Amino acid sequence: MLFTYLHLAASDELTRALAESGAACVAYETVETDNHALPLLAPMSEIAGRLAAQAGAYFLEKPLGGHGLLLGGVPGVAPGRVLVIGGGIVGYNAAVIALGLGANVTILERSIDRMRHLDEVLSGRVSLVMSSTLQIEESIVEADVVIGAVLIPGAVAPKLVTREMVTAMKDGAVLCDVAIDQGGCAETSHPTTHSEPVYVVDGVTHYCVANMPGAVPITSTKALTNVTLPYVEAIADHGLAEAVALDPALARGVNVLDGRITYEAVADAHGLDFHPLQDVLPLSPV
Ligand SMILES: NC(=O)c1ccc[n+]([C@@H]2O[C@H](COP(=O)([O-])OP(=O)(O)OC[C@H]3O[C@@H](n4cnc5c(N)ncnc54)[C@H](O)[C@@H]3O)[C@@H](O)[C@H]2O)c1
Repeated sequence: MLFTYLHLAASDELTRALAESGAACVAYETVETDNHALPLLAPMSEIAGRLAAQAGAYFLEKPLGGHGLLLGGVPGVAPGRVLVIGGGIVGYNAAVIALGLGANVTILERSIDRMRHLDEVLSGRVSLVMSSTLQIEESIVEADVVIGAVLIPGAVAPKLVTREMVTAMKDGAVLCDVAIDQGGCAETSHPTTHSEPVYVVDGVTHYCVANMPGAVPITSTKALTNVTLPYVEAIADHGLAEAVALDPALARGVNVLDGRITYEAVADAHGLDFHPLQDVLPLSPV
């Protein structure tokens, strides 16, 4: 039995191989509660968001190619501006750290309800603005650090930041595209790694590490196992069939079982037959 991140919609080869193996495959990323929260993705987003603000501040330093600005400023010198596009888990956590550093923070969001929530939890310390192409165009020229944190569930990230917008940014500004694991929200983004995290386009430093939490494995491992362990214990105590029957969130995590694809989006992605989980249960012993 496999219980880990699988991202099967992105890999035809892996999906077919797992189906052929006969393994029971439960994907962290599709474990989903009744209110559509993704509890096994959330800690990685928290970490990536917090790291994004740190990376932004760091790569603003002159010797690292930045335009040489201390994000928090000092008395007598204004702080830098951080523009966060997407105020979900990544965006909120990026804002918290950027605020902590003393930056001037704006979050562009599409959901009014989410903005009301952010206004409340951040005690009005950030500017919350409705996201639109025009608004991004206007805000991006003022920003020292731009953090791309949008997500449209199940879809590739929308290209909200065009090449022209990047060209219009300040020289030595930093664009940290956290959404790079979903393709990135800037036209100029491509995935980078921890060994070479940044590259420059039109004077703008791009930080596009697809696995940001890998930089802080102590925090990431503990944060992840905090949320996965209860599921592991449930599976160990009851076996997969009973654990799944007891917990619909875990049931939504089952992607492949007894050679069949039990998660519709994965089946659709590869043109394979979809078998609802209840049709495949009872499970063979695992
Ligand atoms: N690079 C990494 O290591 C890493 C790690 C964790 C998460 N991520 C990625 O970060 C992204 C954000 O994840 P999350 O957990 O914060 O998602 P989330 O669903 O919590 O938040 C996404 C937010 O984007 C908003 N949004 C959607 N379209 C928008 C638009 N046009 N303008 C402004 N806001 C818009 C949504 O309303 C939502 O609030 C995802 O692509 C995720 O895969 C990357």
